Amino acid sequence: MYRIAVLPCDGVGPEVVREGLKVLSAAAAKHGMQYETVPYDLGGDRYLRTGEVLPESVKDELRQTDAIYLGAVGHPDVAPGILEHGLLLTIRFEFDQYVNLRPIKLYPGVETPIKNKGPADIDFVVVRENTECLYCGIGGHLHKGTPQEVASQLMLYTRHGTERIIRWAFELTRKRGKDRKLTLVDKANVLVYGHDLWRRTFAEVGEQYPDIRRDLAFVDAACMWFVKNPEWFDVIVTCNMFGDIITDLGAMVQGGLGVAAGGNLNPEGVSMFEPIHGSAPKYAGKDVICPVAAVCAAGMMMEHLGEAAVAASIETAVTSALASGKLGDLSTSSGVSTSAAGDLIAGLV
Ligand code: IPM
Ligand code: MN
Repeated sequence: MYRIAVLPCDGVGPEVVREGLKVLSAAAAKHGMQYETVPYDLGGDRYLRTGEVLPESVKDELRQTDAIYLGAVGHPDVAPGILEHGLLLTIRFEFDQYVNLRPIKLYPGVETPIKNKGPADIDFVVVRENTECLYCGIGGHLHKGTPQEVASQLMLYTRHGTERIIRWAFELTRKRGKDRKLTLVDKANVLVYGHDLWRRTFAEVGEQYPDIRRDLAFVDAACMWFVKNPEWFDVIVTCNMFGDIITDLGAMVQGGLGVAAGGNLNPEGVSMFEPIHGSAPKYAGKDVICPVAAVCAAGMMMEHLGEAAVAASIETAVTSALASGKLGDLSTSSGVSTSAAGDLIAGLV
């Protein structure tokens, strides 16, 4: 019996989470999997009402769950950073979810903007470090608001943090067994301290994986190759900031944010799963957002919990729904409502 915390939060989060849970419930029923969901009222509205972002008592409860299923964070009436830092990044950091796993996969039937590339060419995974880098929140202002202002934002890496993510990526590359190739995406030609640590760690850990081919790519060139030669990639490992940026590009390559899902994993603790699109407030409550990403996030959650059969059923249902063409172009003007898309996928489980 699993206990899954559900955090729909802001904007379109509640709608896509509702559809993800619909599909999950169909897949769980099919395989006799028992679970309960525990909803949490968090996000911009609660903050505006009570001033609370993530109370300690909620954190304690989240620690007792098997997984967290998140919708989207970001509210037009709340200053940028409050919810992102207070909720999303706090959970990632305090729950030590050091792996941000983001598959970039073009499903048959989905259109990519990349000319002459198909599902065989676009199938790779980005392993984004999720607890360090520019996201560590260390820095400050001096002489703020004056012409002499100084602002600093620290890009921090530890050997421990770098090594564990690189090792996890090597293991994944081996398990995936596709091209057995791991690419480190960095900017070692400029970040001569931080990314020197990454390169040395990559080489050292890589010695223990003689069956995995190691490849290095500067982040700017990697962006070019995402578009020009996406088939070159199997698994990518990268720092937090670059991982954030290149996975938005990756989402476009795989056909849009409507299909891009991610997991924030603590391999020894509580992990969190989310569609990587944001809260898209202007579409909130309109029932027009494609819920596929949230459905895929639920599938990743099942995979992570070791429920391979449930995960496979969700994946098969998503694949058939997309291949059927009945989900339209997956955009907000596809003519297929969020709930109709969820019904269709759930019906194919
Ligand atoms: C993401 C988002 C977050 C990030 C924001 C909302 C803090 O862009 O999950 O990619 O930068 O990690
Ligand atoms: Mn992002």
